[in-house]
Amino acid sequence: MKFGIESINFYTPHYYLDLEALAQERGLDPQKYLRGLGQEKMAVPPPDEDVVTMGANAAYRALENIERSSIDTIMFATESSIDQSKAAAIYVHKLLGLPTTCKAFEIKQACCSSTTGLQIAQALVTQNPTQKILLVASDIARYGFNTAGEPSQGAGAIAIVLSAQPCLLAFNGESGSYTEDVMDFWRPNYRDEALVDGKYSIKIYLKALAESWKHYVKESGARFEDFYRFCYHLPFTRMAEKAHTHLAKINKSTLTPTEQYQQVADSLKFNPITGNCYTASLYEGILSLMIESKEDLSEKRVGLFSYGSGCMATFFSGTFLPHYKRWLQGEAHHHMFATRKSLIYREYENFYTHKLPSDGEDYVTAKHETGLFRIAGIKEHKRIYETCPIAPPQRPPLQQTKSITKWP
Ligand code: CAA
Repeated sequence: MKFGIESINFYTPHYYLDLEALAQERGLDPQKYLRGLGQEKMAVPPPDEDVVTMGANAAYRALENIERSSIDTIMFATESSIDQSKAAAIYVHKLLGLPTTCKAFEIKQACCSSTTGLQIAQALVTQNPTQKILLVASDIARYGFNTAGEPSQGAGAIAIVLSAQPCLLAFNGESGSYTEDVMDFWRPNYRDEALVDGKYSIKIYLKALAESWKHYVKESGARFEDFYRFCYHLPFTRMAEKAHTHLAKINKSTLTPTEQYQQVADSLKFNPITGNCYTASLYEGILSLMIESKEDLSEKRVGLFSYGSGCMATFFSGTFLPHYKRWLQGEAHHHMFATRKSLIYREYENFYTHKLPSDGEDYVTAKHETGLFRIAGIKEHKRIYETCPIAPPQRPPLQQTKSITKWP
């Protein structure tokens, strides 16, 4: 029985900050961000978008050719959770009109929980091959103004329909894992921004890669040479380059640096213009590879590395399916990236400092350009979501977002 991706879609907010503008504001050489981190732009969600609206927007497109009543489970992977109890999956379930028989829950382990969701889905589909699972991974990466992590912020969501009838990518069974209690990156409940020990997090990422690869090789008998392409968790693009060089070295690869780079290059086209999307970022890389590769990758194997700080990591793999290109929405993704709006630095500050009231006070959110779904505000401690007209409205002038207005 095959298990894999039947449909996939990525969503990122309509606004971004150019990292050259950020470098200028911080008095730094832009090349530190552009070349040093490999990042050009970071997506910045407006006040009326959150992980639910981003996830629902990605899922809406992923379900375009799939009967909604066929979805048995929706899982929501995030580390930007909006509620300590209620799963973000339930809000998306409602916005998409999924059947009441569809199970809905949220999963957490930093950036790796999307891959844990995929493994849960694999177990469910193996148990019952008629099952279709919608996996949504949605995150907003926040480190704070003027921190080392600031240029690696970003936002985005991926939605993947997983089933026993994949047409894009089939996952091979085996995986390798690595878990260790480390404090490289974490976000206590009382903070909106993550705390991070940046240099240490890079070391731990590379250690977790080496260890999960070792376990994967033991489980699968696979060799480095068996893979044509590799996709890595992408906190920033240069991290994947460092990771691949590390893995090639461990395996004493005879490939030249240019050949090694070719193994990851097409997976690195979207991340430099969105920034880190935490749980969504590995899958953003897989989609980038499928859309951007000029070569037909059918029947080729891809090695996949998922890393969640804290930490847990998984190495696993997949094989591209014949005619996979037919099912990709490449043009729609290019259009989404091309029609985004660039923020000036002050607008970024304004978006970034906006917060929904934390005392439950009623609040109406100012309208900005969003996808099909937006958060309209708070009423009686409840988040109110709404569906926008099909064509996104023209961008209104940026508004003050701080005024608290009573619901009528
Ligand atoms: N021109 C070209 N390159 C330059 C440059 C210039 N003028 N100035 C600096 N650089 C290069 C540096 O040499 C360095 O490259 P190398 O790593 O190849 O040496 C790179 O730019 C970055 O410079 P610094 O190391 O000085 O940067 P920094 O210390 O200010 O911050 C960071 C870098 C630690 C990654 C920081 O952005 C950060 O903390 N990010 C968040 C944490 C993170 O992403 N960790 C990754 C692993 S953890 C994970 O993956 C989970 C997750 O999603 C968070």
